[in-house]
Amino acid sequence: MNAITIAPLLLGLAAFGVVRYAAKVKKPSLERARGLETIFENASDAAIMNDISGFVRTANKAFCRLTGYLPAKLIERSIFELAHGCTPEELARRWRTADHGESIVSAFQVRLQDGSTIPIEMVSTPLRQAGEPLIHSVFRDLSNRQKMGHGPGAWSFADDLINIMPIPVFYKNTQGLYIGCNRAYEEFKGITRQEMVGKTVYEMAPPEIARKYDEMDRALLQTRGIQIYDWVMPDAKGIERSVIFHKTVFTQASGEIGGIIGVMLDVTERKQAMAERIKHEQQIQQVQKLESLGVLAGGIAHDFNNILMAIIGNADLAQARLPIESPVRHNLQKIHAAAFRAADLSRQMLAYSGRGKFVLELLDLNRLIEEMIHMLEVSISKKAVLRFNQFNPLPMFEGDATQISQIIMNLVINASEAIGEKSGVIAITTGCMDCTRQYLQDLCLDQSIPEGLCVYLEVADTGCGMDEETKAKIFDPFFTTKFTGRGLGMSAVLGIIRGHNGGIKIYSEQGKGSSFKVIFPASSKQLELLDRAQMSSTWTATGKVLLVDDEESVRAIGSDMLRELGFEVVTACDGKDALLRFQEQPGFRFVILDLTMPHMDGEQCYRELQQLKPGTRVIMSSGFNEHEVSQRFIGKGLAGFIQKPYTLTALKEIVSKSCM
Ligand SMILES: Nc1ncnc2c1ncn2[C@@H]1O[C@H](COP(=O)(O)OP(=O)(O)OP(=O)(O)O)[C@@H](O)[C@H]1O
Ligand SMILES: [Mg+2]
Repeated sequence: MNAITIAPLLLGLAAFGVVRYAAKVKKPSLERARGLETIFENASDAAIMNDISGFVRTANKAFCRLTGYLPAKLIERSIFELAHGCTPEELARRWRTADHGESIVSAFQVRLQDGSTIPIEMVSTPLRQAGEPLIHSVFRDLSNRQKMGHGPGAWSFADDLINIMPIPVFYKNTQGLYIGCNRAYEEFKGITRQEMVGKTVYEMAPPEIARKYDEMDRALLQTRGIQIYDWVMPDAKGIERSVIFHKTVFTQASGEIGGIIGVMLDVTERKQAMAERIKHEQQIQQVQKLESLGVLAGGIAHDFNNILMAIIGNADLAQARLPIESPVRHNLQKIHAAAFRAADLSRQMLAYSGRGKFVLELLDLNRLIEEMIHMLEVSISKKAVLRFNQFNPLPMFEGDATQISQIIMNLVINASEAIGEKSGVIAITTGCMDCTRQYLQDLCLDQSIPEGLCVYLEVADTGCGMDEETKAKIFDPFFTTKFTGRGLGMSAVLGIIRGHNGGIKIYSEQGKGSSFKVIFPASSKQLELLDRAQMSSTWTATGKVLLVDDEESVRAIGSDMLRELGFEVVTACDGKDALLRFQEQPGFRFVILDLTMPHMDGEQCYRELQQLKPGTRVIMSSGFNEHEVSQRFIGKGLAGFIQKPYTLTALKEIVSKSCM
């Protein structure tokens, strides 16, 4: 037994002796009683004897030394007058109901004679003197245990060790009163040890949280094992921190459970890093998924477009060549319409692959939307109101007008479908903003969008909104919650955004609505807006044209169309063949050149043509090819692009705009 356990015992005996002496109860000799009284008086531990209401009957020298009070000032004064952080009624109740010989441990702050306070632990033992209940209490100065005379060994070592630990540590007694903590805890909570000792968790945390702590502590004291759990709590600055509590019970030298010791591991940064890693991995997965599916979708779209080219072109030509009153016209219109729907599907797939971008130009979002507004109005539900809030002046950005229109169309149609049969509002808003890295990191598609000025387009609706599951899958190709949906709209939107180095942010609340914000980096280039409305109506389709395509069906229908417009057509089946024809027969007005061909592709053929005859007008045509990157041709004097499958009208438009 060491000094810590012997001291209260001796003091208890001494006090017991004093009581018996004072009560003049039979035997023990006067000498023995005096001896015990001397031990009590001179014990190095501070001790007092008080009645059940807390009034001090006697106090030893160590208590007077500790508190600075003269013995006369203490007698008949309530111990509760000096105590802070304890509940007198509760303590008195426990004194009254304690079992014989049971010690009651409590911790609180004692006000010293000089006005300062120190944290103490009080071990009270109820006794009886001539039938009257009295309480004998021994005090331990928690602020500086060494001075209390428990020896420099164990306590000092443990204290120093706990204090040097960079992890917050705290300890409580079995009654749930804090009895100490280390420096890291003081720093974490922004509270001093003196301030926390003697307090219960109810004085340290909001009631509902304190109740949970209390329940956990009680469970631990019962099971006496180890408790580990996650928690979120504010630090000294009020910032929420994620911590992991590791708690266990500690045993006193007497072998009894002394209370709980806990360690708080701050894992906020670790959690944040993990969340970022998961997000990054998800983004990589998304990109990989996009890439593999994109190649597939693009490949299908490419072949599909060549087939559609033949269908649409032939239907177009047949209509043009039929007399107005022909009953077959109606059927041809149906073929045309169905082929167009198929082309639309193909366009969505191509967009999803992110490589269907052909004509990059400086775009004004406001103007683009204005041009589309009528078409949008007729496409949405009758119950939906379309609003357009435009920000002016809006910086330009580089994009493919057809594809950006596809984004707007898909978003607006989705918004209308989300509103359904109810009344609602679809708001299209444009604007520009300075995007920080932080903001850009939160986008659904994190790629190399440079920090700085961006233009945005927001489509918000008051429709059904989305649950978390839908939000998570919204960009998955073929994911749809609609009976007739194809689940390609949003995947196409994502592909286009990706191809334009943009980003998208989605906000949605179930039952309230959704908003989709699409962001593109603003262009630093000067406004060179191509006037798309400007189209010569006076041009004449005469002269010789070279049509180059490896697909026989495309060559056939393309030639037919060009002839229909009034041109004389020469065809070639690949790049090499094209160069031969070009050299054989001079005087071509322009060349329509397929990008993907065997032997010599469109890009190389284009270069060779420019060498043979600089300034040769070339319209690049393509269904899809994975090497197609429009930027390759920027600044190289390409006359235009036409995407397969094309109609007679589209061909006429591009030829008139680019080559006349
Ligand atoms: N504005 C919106 N409000 C609520 N849910 C939406 C909205 N936009 C998209 N969604 C959800 O995302 C899913 C995928 O949208 P997506 O446009 O890709 O396919 P779809 O509209 O179902 O079919 P389609 O290929 O014809 O566009 C939708 O089925 C719907 O559940
Ligand atoms: Mg859709």
